[in-house]
Amino acid sequence: MTTTRSAVTSDDDPRLAVKFQRWDELDDDYRKLARKMASFQVLAELVGVMQFVEWLPMVPDFCRKQMLTAKIQDEVGHGHVMARVAEDLGADRDAILWDWLEGRTKLLNIFHFDFKSWEELGMAALIVNSAAIVQFQSFDKGTYLPYGRALKKIEKEEAFHYHHALDLTHELLTHGTTVQRDRVHEAFATWLGRTLVYFGPPDSHLVANNPLYQAGLKVDSNDALRERYLDRMVPVWRGLGLPVDDFLSYDESAGRWATPGVPIDWAAEKKMLEGGGPAYERWKDMIRTSLEKNARYAALARGKAA
Ligand SMILES: [Fe+2]
Ligand SMILES: [Fe+2]
Repeated sequence: MTTTRSAVTSDDDPRLAVKFQRWDELDDDYRKLARKMASFQVLAELVGVMQFVEWLPMVPDFCRKQMLTAKIQDEVGHGHVMARVAEDLGADRDAILWDWLEGRTKLLNIFHFDFKSWEELGMAALIVNSAAIVQFQSFDKGTYLPYGRALKKIEKEEAFHYHHALDLTHELLTHGTTVQRDRVHEAFATWLGRTLVYFGPPDSHLVANNPLYQAGLKVDSNDALRERYLDRMVPVWRGLGLPVDDFLSYDESAGRWATPGVPIDWAAEKKMLEGGGPAYERWKDMIRTSLEKNARYAALARGKAA
């Protein structure tokens, strides 16, 4: 295997000791794994933004509308940045979308749902954005440097999305009507469960067999990330006055979070991913329509590049 020993971390984990920079010098297996990760994130950014895009005409406040517009622009930008990383690894950006549209690739649970209210949008964005930030801050320490650098750029904008969601949720909880506060609380319960699922099934005992983990592209186990997320977010939720103790408790003897109020049926979750959640087909229709409408321009751009 020819690799570029372009950086050595001070990390004790031997998986992360050697990092890779040049895509044309990667071992085939490693390149495929890195391509899979980057392609997956292209989809997460572009499909993930659909939940927000359809709310754009319904934002109840001009200033919030500007912020939502900026967030949507950022997410599409993240999709483009990641598509460049994936293209360097041999992916075709149209194929990334068509593979998903035609069911050859799947997306995580949080991308299968829409928002029923403006209050739900804020709460869900707060919960999910913070989870994504925890994921990205782990992945950016992985062994493929171009991917890590792209993530660091993305994280800066995700911090803005996080603060917008926090500010919106805080405003609704402090100045909103009873109905609005109830909607925020309901969304907290719903999206907390979904986000714990988003980190993936318990894997501490299995992760060493995961090829992405072995390659140092996945840095931490699902369980480690879920714990880090709860450590970070529980104080924020408590600060907002959300009923955290109805759902979570800290198990002092095990040194980890227990989630008695958030029962997760992993078999049902798997089934939902296979069949598609309530908004999944709608996102597919929106993206398919957009690809078809713009096919002529994409072909022109390709011709120009050739
Ligand atoms: Fe993003
Ligand atoms: Fe975001």
